[in-house]
Amino acid sequence: MCGIVGYVGPKPVLPILMAGLKRLEYRGYDSSGVALLHNHSLIVTKTPGKIAQLEKLVDGFDLESNCGIGHTRWATHGVPNQLNAHPHTDTPEEIALVHNGIIENFRTLKEFLERQGFKMKTETDTEVLVHLIRFNYNGDFTEAVRRALLQVEGTYGIAVISSKDPNKIVAARMGSPLVIGHGENENFVASDVAAMLDHTNQVVYLEDGEIATVTPEEYKITTIENEKIAPQIQEVTWTLDQIEKGGYEHFMLKEIHEQPATLRNAMRGRLNFEEAISRLNGLNLQQEQLRQIKRIVITACGTSWHAGLIGEYMIEELARIPVEVEYASEFRYRSPVMEPDTVMFVISQSGETTDTQAAMREAKKHGASVFGIVNVVGSTIARESDGGVYIHAGPEIGVASTKAFTSQLVVLSLITLMLARMRNLSFQQGQEFIEALEKIPEKAEKIFESEDQIKKIAEQYCQTNNFLYLGRGINFPVALEGALKLKEISYIHAEGYPAAEMKHGPIALIDENMPVVVIALKDPVYEKVMSNIAEVRTRNGQVIAIATEGDTEIAERANHVIYIPETHRLLSPLLSVIPLQLLAYHIALLRGCHVDQPRNLAKSVTVE
Ligand code: G6P
Repeated sequence: MCGIVGYVGPKPVLPILMAGLKRLEYRGYDSSGVALLHNHSLIVTKTPGKIAQLEKLVDGFDLESNCGIGHTRWATHGVPNQLNAHPHTDTPEEIALVHNGIIENFRTLKEFLERQGFKMKTETDTEVLVHLIRFNYNGDFTEAVRRALLQVEGTYGIAVISSKDPNKIVAARMGSPLVIGHGENENFVASDVAAMLDHTNQVVYLEDGEIATVTPEEYKITTIENEKIAPQIQEVTWTLDQIEKGGYEHFMLKEIHEQPATLRNAMRGRLNFEEAISRLNGLNLQQEQLRQIKRIVITACGTSWHAGLIGEYMIEELARIPVEVEYASEFRYRSPVMEPDTVMFVISQSGETTDTQAAMREAKKHGASVFGIVNVVGSTIARESDGGVYIHAGPEIGVASTKAFTSQLVVLSLITLMLARMRNLSFQQGQEFIEALEKIPEKAEKIFESEDQIKKIAEQYCQTNNFLYLGRGINFPVALEGALKLKEISYIHAEGYPAAEMKHGPIALIDENMPVVVIALKDPVYEKVMSNIAEVRTRNGQVIAIATEGDTEIAERANHVIYIPETHRLLSPLLSVIPLQLLAYHIALLRGCHVDQPRNLAKSVTVE
């Protein structure tokens, strides 16, 4: 989704902004722009399309500028064109502003401003804010921004510059992340640390309702009510290597292949073999508190929600605690029942998804303890939850989540083990589980031996318009995730279904043109899934089976079989999803799709 970068310091600003914008491309966007301060005036360049378009426009710009802001826009109000792209400016062009989020009362503000004689140039909600700042300007730039924000309802992360006050960026946050990067005689502003990691790893995360005045030498932070805040510098541990492609054609492919390593990272230091239990200090809970949990609500969006569904199967079966999994966007507007012994787990790769944050806050309002299962250290959900477990997957750049998903599953299995061992799970059962978990990374590695075979299957089906994914039990959510991966990046319509539910509808769609991916592992429902395969084959559907290594019987029933190593049944999603990620990737590649930045999607969805 939208991205912000800003710089003030001794270096030429344009290359820093352009490099920063490229680092933000992964978030998903449809236009981009920059505003530079030069000789006490503003130079604004913006365009629809990719950063490469913007690069062409600024190519050959040879001007001295040491202060500027840049933006990648993901359209909400107004089509993605040059006019609607950020930065937005007042009239005459003295103030430039970039904005992530949505100004919900923009219509009221627009009417008010128009009555004062201001003329709107764009269809965006953002533009009103820049005029509002001008309206409030009384010689003090920060004060003008602060007063304007007091009139705004909605969400924002903003960076603003003014030709009347050069060498200064004013930044503020409400519901949309914003970070200040601290360098030597230079400072940065960005919506995501990736945009500044080339220059500094010393950062200050702004909190909601905070406003910062950033100059080369310092940054002053106050609340929007003008109370002083003492900034807390944090060190980012992600490295540049981690946010680069490392020889792979796409981030998504790199991230799929990183999984053996990221799975290890998610469990490192957390397995206690002697007691067959996991150690999760970040939860900040005493044993007694963990024993008292009577009900769990898991909330999340997208792929993280699928991880939550798998968590439900694991926790209910081993720990015998009732679990409900709720879409965050639904939970936030319900009137949830949260009793004192109910806890909430909030799953989010980015830690910034607006609906997930809102669901978390709703649960807290009802008195529940909330725990984050988050990747991005220092993100809003990580900071606002009562405790949590980082998944340590490293930066995930591909919009379609892959390695974060499997790392979320590792953390959910560690939580399951801990809760289950405190209840009825025997030492021996715990030992079987923990030993199987430890072996998952090397088993994941083996799956890549099938990649050539998966490519061939992709070639055969890449022109199909529809796909069906079936699974049962703990592999039903994997079917959902496989279908989601395919539709996200290849734009093929795909549906995930519980295998046995096929006969209540989707079976009507099956004919020789319908590929059906079936997760058919050697588990207690194997025979039943085999019957579903037969039902598909009888109607000439094409079956691509994900099966357990050594299962020769299935080779006679399905059109294609991709084998995965055998493991503990409840851990099988950690492996069965990998061939589905690869299949989606190779199909999208053959269809010429933009794998890392699929159309209309965003990495971190910071609007409702
Ligand atoms: C977007 C992304 C998905 C992700 C979902 C939830 O839709 O494209 O890949 O699963 O948001 O994001 P989160 O960061 O909260 O896990």
